[in-house]
Amino acid sequence: MMADTGQHVAIIMDGNGRWAEQRGQPRLVGHHAGAKRIREIVEACPAVGVKYLTIFAFSTENWKRTQSEVSGLMRLFKRYIRRESQNLVDDGVRVRFIGDRINLNEQLASTMDELELVTADNKRVNLTIALNYGGRDEVTRAVQRLAREIEQQRLTAKEVSAKVLAGFLDTHFLPDPDLVIRTSGEARISNFLLWQSAYAEYEFIETLWPDFNSEEFSQLVLKFRTRERRYGAVL
Ligand code: FPP
Repeated sequence: MMADTGQHVAIIMDGNGRWAEQRGQPRLVGHHAGAKRIREIVEACPAVGVKYLTIFAFSTENWKRTQSEVSGLMRLFKRYIRRESQNLVDDGVRVRFIGDRINLNEQLASTMDELELVTADNKRVNLTIALNYGGRDEVTRAVQRLAREIEQQRLTAKEVSAKVLAGFLDTHFLPDPDLVIRTSGEARISNFLLWQSAYAEYEFIETLWPDFNSEEFSQLVLKFRTRERRYGAVL
């Protein structure tokens, strides 16, 4: 049992905009700097026993940002995915996306499909990228799919359990997160993995995402593990 704790870490990558503003730069400069941090964190996972890393790239609420920021982010996602694809394959990283793909640009969506396909056999680290993701939106879409199953009499209302519902979520292939980290000092979960984080521990840290590094990440994971072990001893 113990070997499993801390295997799934989820991160709300916040503070890119402020990082850029502090330097008198446009917000997109912060997003680019933020994107560059991801590889280091992914590569730090195996050494600290993290099998699953889930990152929040774009929320269903982020469409409300200025059009230039939104389109800049979409271009960044597409370029970043293409550029990192070979590295991810070589590093044994399996990438999957969660969120609603329906409103995404066709080119971006097909780049995402392709990355999932070329990394499908990888097993070292499972990286899940939440893009156009919102916890309430995810549960709503899951319930719509579930209701359709009932309508078509493939399922009865009575058969719906927490486990059945979880199977309809975007995250059906993931264990629940053990630890959720949010950078940049905000103590909110902002609609991230609402259902899945029911028992997760949270770490709200001051560091802005573009300044976050593998050392701080590993320390947080090890701190989580020490805490788990202590509770384990008391019980
Ligand atoms: C939050 O900072 C960050 C985002 C909305 C975007 C996250 C995106 C990345 C880190 C870029 C790359 C990701 C992938 C998967 C390629 P903020 O803009 O809310 O910062 P602020 O709170 O300081 O304004």
